[in-house]
Amino acid sequence: MGHQLPLSRVARLVGITRHALQQRIRAGTLATFDGMVELDELLRAFPDVKWEDDAEIRRVNEIKDKAFAKRILERVLPDKEILAARLTELSDDYAAAAALLGHYENVVRWLDDRIEELGENASAETRHALHGLRAFLLRNLAEIPPDAAQAQALIVKERMLRIMSAHVTIQPSGHEFFVDGNDTLLDAALRNGVSLSYGCSNGNCGECRARVVSGEVKKVRAHDYVLKQADKDAGVILMCSYAPVNDVVLEANVAGAHDIPLQHIQARVKTVEIFNPQVAALYLVTPRSQRLRYLGGQSIRLAANGAQGHYPLASCPCEDRNIEVHVPRRAGDSFAEWVFDTLQEGYVVALEGPFGEVVLDEDSPRPVIFLAFGTGFAPIKSLVQHAMSLELAESMDLHWFADETGLYQDNLCRAWADALDNFSYVPHPSGVDIDEALRRITADYSELHRFDVYASGTADQLERAHGHFVRAGLHDARWFAEPLAGA
Ligand code: FES
Repeated sequence: MGHQLPLSRVARLVGITRHALQQRIRAGTLATFDGMVELDELLRAFPDVKWEDDAEIRRVNEIKDKAFAKRILERVLPDKEILAARLTELSDDYAAAAALLGHYENVVRWLDDRIEELGENASAETRHALHGLRAFLLRNLAEIPPDAAQAQALIVKERMLRIMSAHVTIQPSGHEFFVDGNDTLLDAALRNGVSLSYGCSNGNCGECRARVVSGEVKKVRAHDYVLKQADKDAGVILMCSYAPVNDVVLEANVAGAHDIPLQHIQARVKTVEIFNPQVAALYLVTPRSQRLRYLGGQSIRLAANGAQGHYPLASCPCEDRNIEVHVPRRAGDSFAEWVFDTLQEGYVVALEGPFGEVVLDEDSPRPVIFLAFGTGFAPIKSLVQHAMSLELAESMDLHWFADETGLYQDNLCRAWADALDNFSYVPHPSGVDIDEALRRITADYSELHRFDVYASGTADQLERAHGHFVRAGLHDARWFAEPLAGA
């Protein structure tokens, strides 16, 4: 068929993760060329996939959305003009294929006539050979290849996905994501955990500038920021105002922890969830025009009612304007008392942040171990969800050591383990001998030098864990931890 697809699109078509595909590539059961897969190869490597049924993709996405506690996205159609452009592109493809088919039909008809003509004055032997040739030609033209129905269903499904979403590659970082429905490039990047540089997110500041390297984009939201003519000529656009018409490659900055400015936002309380008498979750929502920029693993300061506290973020940056923090009830923490006793939906809280430098190393494809001690689960939860949305790590193992706050989101961790084949969860109840448990954990990994470890807890817990892991072979540089904010 000669049609090639990027790995991310293949993963969507087949309904498995990119990591599972990469495992197949490494095992030699799926062939790629320059990171692309041919449709023929796809049919060969996945003979049992029901291409006409996308229930599997729906199921995986629903489980993931639920497990990640994300809102389930409305499957809205793309912007009208983008939809029209994609359908036009599809019609052009169809017209080109139909024209080519017509041409082949004429060639075959001509060939058939020529064989007949040649046979008229030929010897009996030549006539016999020509007869065999003609019979072969007619038989093969009449025959339907055994995998024709499969190939047709695969092409239909691939075309449907192309109409509903476009694939984006960011250079030079290599991040990839899909833009679904009527999202802008910036919306989709943030939803997928890609921390592109931006400011206002509504067309005023110009900080989301990017250059289109290939593909076509369309303005779907007006912007007040004025792009210079030289920028426009170079293909510069604002990612918060444009959406892709087809698959695009963009040159854009991905922000690290140091690139994100300190922000001050008045956030509204959406709800308070009291997990148990020792710990509560505070769910905040920022104003429509002011998303908090942060990375998984960072923390914020909150102030209201004359009290303040410093708490790790438990949410994923991919959760749009929704922010989650876990508030332990500590002696003398008047903000925590206020959360437990008074705080209600609609209250306004002053937020300052983000703080903290322990964030995901997005360039690392290594397997990851997450260690959470008590409410150190909050930043670990944020990191896990960020890693899941980026599909970064080869595998992720979470160990959660309970303290008096308990394993207060144990079910969520189990749901992650059920939904993802590269995720495992091991709870450690309160009262276990931490050193003994750490000794057993590190003994289970024969190649700790291959891993990254992210940990969160008190300074003492981190020091003990660090000692166990480094003694067992972890590279010191692959240990990412800082003591819990406010502990
Ligand atoms: S983020 Fe400010 S113009 Fe796009």
